[in-house]
Amino acid sequence: MKKVLTVVGARPQFVKAATVSRAFKNIGGIKELIVHTGQHFDANMSDIFFEEMEIPKPDFQLNINSLNHGAMTGRMMEGIEKLLLEQKPDILLIYGDTNSTLAGALAARKLHIPVAHVEAGLRSYNMEMPEEINRILADRISNILYCPTQTAVNNLKKEGYDNIDARIVVSGDVMYDAALYYASASGEKSNVISDLKLDKFVLCTLHRAENTDDPKKLSSIVNALNEINKKIPVVMPLHPRTLKLLQKEGIEFNFKTLDPVGYFDMLALLEASILVLTDSGGLQKEAYFFKKPCVTMREQTEWVELIEEGANVLAGSDGLKIIFAAEEMLKKKISFENNLYGDGHAADLIAADILKHLTN
Ligand code: UD1
Repeated sequence: MKKVLTVVGARPQFVKAATVSRAFKNIGGIKELIVHTGQHFDANMSDIFFEEMEIPKPDFQLNINSLNHGAMTGRMMEGIEKLLLEQKPDILLIYGDTNSTLAGALAARKLHIPVAHVEAGLRSYNMEMPEEINRILADRISNILYCPTQTAVNNLKKEGYDNIDARIVVSGDVMYDAALYYASASGEKSNVISDLKLDKFVLCTLHRAENTDDPKKLSSIVNALNEINKKIPVVMPLHPRTLKLLQKEGIEFNFKTLDPVGYFDMLALLEASILVLTDSGGLQKEAYFFKKPCVTMREQTEWVELIEEGANVLAGSDGLKIIFAAEEMLKKKISFENNLYGDGHAADLIAADILKHLTN
């Protein structure tokens, strides 16, 4: 039996890990141990995902959160290193671009434990984003790079990965697997649409540090949302980061906010919405999975194929641009027919590839 140590910590990682954990169980031959760094700790940012998505309970909980980047990453490294020394896994598995991702990669690689990175090769080319730093460094020290798209592979090639001793695999996107797998459960189990009596609304999320931590940008975005809400209701599940900063800056909003929602409610909201406005990476793709146009409130996106496809448009934090983009995207005819993110079996491919890698 081969041993995989998986590091998760933030909300989108729970969604991604759910798919690969299930694939490991189905394939057999692998014992997976899960470490939760504790980066996201509120019940509705963490526990609900484990319950709904039936992710095995984490074997180890590090409880590290609400620290500055250096302290958070450092303490996570320390905790993960200790576990690696105790558990001696054959490989460490990391997801995405959070501080938990980077901490895992650094701790394992220095102990000569191979690292596999799911969602490798993404780039926004904006080094102001902590996520960009995390993903570049995590990729560089990973042994296996599971790229969701060919664009991600091309990004790595541009950085000289042909000359770097790492194996690149185009796996497809595990978030697409998750959306396909859980969509019907969500339809049965979520009552969010009827409970809130929602009809024809814009689904919005906002949590990126580059938007929330700059009061000017934050109020410019919120004012635009207030304007849009006068014509079509805007519904925003509110990330704790955003809530804290709205309160601190005394920024007023007139649209509907919800506590952070679980995955089933999020899928139901996506399904029933007519437009998505977001600064999240994951939600841009989920909008596409559910055939909804998307306006991204950032200057760049890692998911450039959505822009090329015409399904997504970048509006940054400029209020007028956001309002204009929302109006345009609502009028536009978009084809959602291309399979940009694989065939829904990315997790199976990753699990089989890891098993093969470890047994060869
Ligand atoms: C993190 C990731 C980001 C990812 C996002 C998903 C990094 C650098 N960023 O950003 O890539 O897109 O998760 O949501 O790793 N907080 C709570 N309760 C929680 C979680 C967070 O109150 O359950 C608070 C924290 O105390 C902190 C703030 O929210 O004050 C931000 O949390 P943090 O983990 O620093 O980053 P995110 O914005 O969630």
